[in-house]
Amino acid sequence: MRFEGKSVVITGGAGGIGKAAVRLFAGEGARVMLAGRSEERCGDICTEMNNQGYTSQYYTGDLSDKNYCEGLIANTVETFGAIDILINNAGIIPRGDILQTTDEMWFAAININLTAVFYLCRAAIPHMKKQGGGAIVNTSSVWGLYPGPGHLAYCTSKGAVAALTQNLGRDHAPDNIRVNAVCPNEVNTPMLRSGFTARGLDPDKAVEQLNATVPLGRIAEPEDIADVIAFLASDKARYIAGALIEVSGAKPVY
Ligand SMILES: NC(=O)c1ccc[n+]([C@@H]2O[C@H](COP(=O)([O-])OP(=O)(O)OC[C@H]3O[C@@H](n4cnc5c(N)ncnc54)[C@H](O)[C@@H]3O)[C@@H](O)[C@H]2O)c1
Repeated sequence: MRFEGKSVVITGGAGGIGKAAVRLFAGEGARVMLAGRSEERCGDICTEMNNQGYTSQYYTGDLSDKNYCEGLIANTVETFGAIDILINNAGIIPRGDILQTTDEMWFAAININLTAVFYLCRAAIPHMKKQGGGAIVNTSSVWGLYPGPGHLAYCTSKGAVAALTQNLGRDHAPDNIRVNAVCPNEVNTPMLRSGFTARGLDPDKAVEQLNATVPLGRIAEPEDIADVIAFLASDKARYIAGALIEVSGAKPVY
């Protein structure tokens, strides 16, 4: 019960990695505020949690809206009386090189993957400071640390999330707020599978082929990433701040 009584916000909480994180944090005693776009999907996961006796609520909206981001933090503090942990997990993946990237794709990636993280951290940090500390875990990507193929807007936004994390980690370590990022390679979630479907491939077969490219023998499952997020948010990671943790099964980006 690493998170007994902790108030935790998880964005993208009804998505692949997000849902695994909600289950893990709620199961270990946290009060979880789940942020997502769909009332129905957020409601379903909250019902699943609350039926098991865990504490979770949801607050739906669009992370590209500054008012929603600030409202999410304010609502969490109002509902749970605090915000101890912020998990910036939500994201989108516009696909294409620069010539295939429209203005809309570019700004969607920057607004949702990066600017929302800025708004949420800026809103949460004063509360964490007042409480005497906290932890923030952002989701970057190994494709943000090394050039990934043909996903210009996505990789650029994730590279900026990595830089934001290192800078926040440095600035707020003296406030006892640890800011770190998890940087996965491929994870078996709707985000990855939708890319295969869009290209007319069978996602199961495509995942099987991807598994063979990973030195550890398989791509990550959402729980593999949620476990690292939870570790970084927990006291077991008390001396880790401003770090970018690669979770890739030893697969390089190429
Ligand atoms: N799946 C992978 O291979 C992979 C690899 C590296 C990093 N990541 C990162 O992990 C994170 C989680 O991705 P996932 O694979 O679970 O994807 P997913 O598509 O299953 O989940 C993403 C979630 O973000 C939410 N979201 C997207 N846009 C939003 C918006 N405007 N407002 C509110 N919510 C919004 C979605 O509703 C969804 O619940 C993302 O940041 C992604 O970039 C994923």
